[in-house]
Amino acid sequence: MIAVYVLCQVLYTSILAQSRQMEWVPVAPGVWKAVTGMPENMDPLRVAGIKPNTTALEKMGDISFPEHLRKSTGEQSDAGTFLSFPLQKNEQLYGLGLNFKSVQQRRTVKELQVDHYGGEDNGRTHAPVPFYVSGNGYGVLVNVARRVKVYAGIIARKDSKDPPPEMNRNTQRDWNPEPGSDVVEMIIPAAGTEIYVFAGKSPLEVVQRYNLFCGGGVLPPKWGLGFTQRTPTLFTDQQVLEEIAAFEQKGYPLSFIGLEPGWQQYSYPNNFVWDSIRYPQPQQFVQQLLLKNIRVNLWINPYISSHAPFFKNMQPYTGSHLVWAGQVPDLTMAPVQDLYKKLFTEKHIDIGVSGYKVDETDGYDFWLWPDNAKFPSGLSGEQMRQVYGLQFQKMSDNWFREKNQRTYGLTRASNAGSPSMPYVIYNDYYNHRDFITALCNSSFIGVLWTPEARSSKTAEEWLRRMQTVCFSPMAMLNAWADGTKPWTFPEVADEVKEVMLLRMQLLPYLYNTFAQYHFEGKPPVRAMNLVDGFYFNATAERGNLSSSDNPYEMALRRDINDQFMVGDYLLVAPLFAGQKERKVVLPQGKWYDFYTGKLAGEGNIIEIKQEMGKIPLFVKDGGMIPMIPAVLHTPRKNELLPLHIKYYGNAENNMELYDDDGETFDYEKGNFAKAVLSVKKDKKGTLKGNAVLPESKDFHYNKVTWEFMTANNDK
Ligand code: GAL
Repeated sequence: MIAVYVLCQVLYTSILAQSRQMEWVPVAPGVWKAVTGMPENMDPLRVAGIKPNTTALEKMGDISFPEHLRKSTGEQSDAGTFLSFPLQKNEQLYGLGLNFKSVQQRRTVKELQVDHYGGEDNGRTHAPVPFYVSGNGYGVLVNVARRVKVYAGIIARKDSKDPPPEMNRNTQRDWNPEPGSDVVEMIIPAAGTEIYVFAGKSPLEVVQRYNLFCGGGVLPPKWGLGFTQRTPTLFTDQQVLEEIAAFEQKGYPLSFIGLEPGWQQYSYPNNFVWDSIRYPQPQQFVQQLLLKNIRVNLWINPYISSHAPFFKNMQPYTGSHLVWAGQVPDLTMAPVQDLYKKLFTEKHIDIGVSGYKVDETDGYDFWLWPDNAKFPSGLSGEQMRQVYGLQFQKMSDNWFREKNQRTYGLTRASNAGSPSMPYVIYNDYYNHRDFITALCNSSFIGVLWTPEARSSKTAEEWLRRMQTVCFSPMAMLNAWADGTKPWTFPEVADEVKEVMLLRMQLLPYLYNTFAQYHFEGKPPVRAMNLVDGFYFNATAERGNLSSSDNPYEMALRRDINDQFMVGDYLLVAPLFAGQKERKVVLPQGKWYDFYTGKLAGEGNIIEIKQEMGKIPLFVKDGGMIPMIPAVLHTPRKNELLPLHIKYYGNAENNMELYDDDGETFDYEKGNFAKAVLSVKKDKKGTLKGNAVLPESKDFHYNKVTWEFMTANNDK
């Protein structure tokens, strides 16, 4: 007996101590999976219920496994699972959660944990997705609902084939305390995990494969891409109506309005029931807004007040700890999901509410449950925290899906598997520059982020923030605390209106860009590092240029985190308060000023000057920007509008313009239509535009006009 026990111990210890090369099994075109140890039975991809879009993955073509990753290993120990992935020289890494200060992540250490962002890129963030994308064209995802500690190419191993050289600090001035390593190592406090590898000929292709594997990116309802205002927390129905009237009367666009905690009788913790004094007739109120073509979004957090109608029934299914004296429901349990669904459908969705802002699912440690919290399903406090926000997204998405109605809301927490979730991340941190870095970073990890505008010290800051938010996945003014309006700063009220209306005009372009997210996996807002001709193959493209005038050299050396792409053609280079000029790094090819159509530069760094006015925007050669008139509300379901296409540069080009009913999931059954827009030179070399519009009830643009923005300017 004792001998058997000892033998088992010896065997166990030897298994523990062994690091094993991973076995990669293809699971979809360009996607491989390996398993190390014993994975847990709950993980983010499962919570998100991903359904890989294999057809779209197949369409991307064959690609082979990134060979150097064959040497990746997994190992189990008392402390959990250790993973190791080789790195190549000069390889850049992106991703590893929603970071706010840095884009490139090689030589960093992080503990990826769902948390409110606290000012440091240390892994504690709203979407700590354990996914990194390599500049060399592959991505690695660890599918686990645990805090993952990552050493991303920072501490060298003794057995490295390429260790950093030993140096003498006494004599060598470039001695480096962080010389880096050729390995990414991870520590996971679990008995095992699944790991996925995504291949790509470029970092963009890697991201596309990840997004498509997760089912493709979300296609929001059209109204979700209009402008949204969140009203002060204790506003009454009358005050909301007055606010809406002011938008209308002053000519500022509005597509949905957000009600903050005060719409409820008790909050927080919440009873999820309309306050009968502030909102005596909720159904009538919501319907009145719908008639005006304005949707309603409700703020909630999931923590339950003793006054909630389902409080008693929830009791057996809540966790051991309280959040703001509210009970914490175990969202993984079917009875919890049923109770939420019943209450929320009856009280909100059936009367016309279009979506939610799901707050406080992220942290801080000062109010969220601790790791020792127990939940009835048996999940630990740590696991629950890693997926709580994701779970709420999935659960509420289903309520709307069952009604064949798309939603688009806000969340403060997410994780792997989120691309198809109809939610945009926001937070309370309020740094304009860092908000833009987060926009760039969101594109690597399959999440959407809004750099919401709330308030500002100066008119200039207000304008700059409003300009940025109008080029993000959700154009939102969050006035919950102080009631700021778009026109609060009279000095810039016109410029703010102009950019809000431009957002509305860009709807066809934006909607098409989101369709690309859904059908092709291309993120709608993209970091420059995902743009072909910007960074990837930088060495090859460097040619004979000297390093002082070569933007790619610059991109290699430092982060480009203050400019980004919206869709394939539009480069956005926001300005910050106090800034009258800035540098813009233009990718290869010619780029044109959006407003004038003039040539701005060609694969170089340009210096631009701006007085108050506009947000700097540039369009790629051959870029087509389909626009509608400056409407105050996103078009209704069957509304037909004329299309105005701005065309830039001189390159012949063609593009497809996607459209559907903008509200339901019928597009998933093939109910959508595409126009083909093309520009060709005639015999005399003059550019001519041609639009072939589909005859379909799913296409809502009737008349087409072309504007050749560059033709009359520089060629
Ligand atoms: C915060 C949230 C704000 C606002 C506020 C209302 O947690 O980030 O945007 O909704 O709650 O109490």
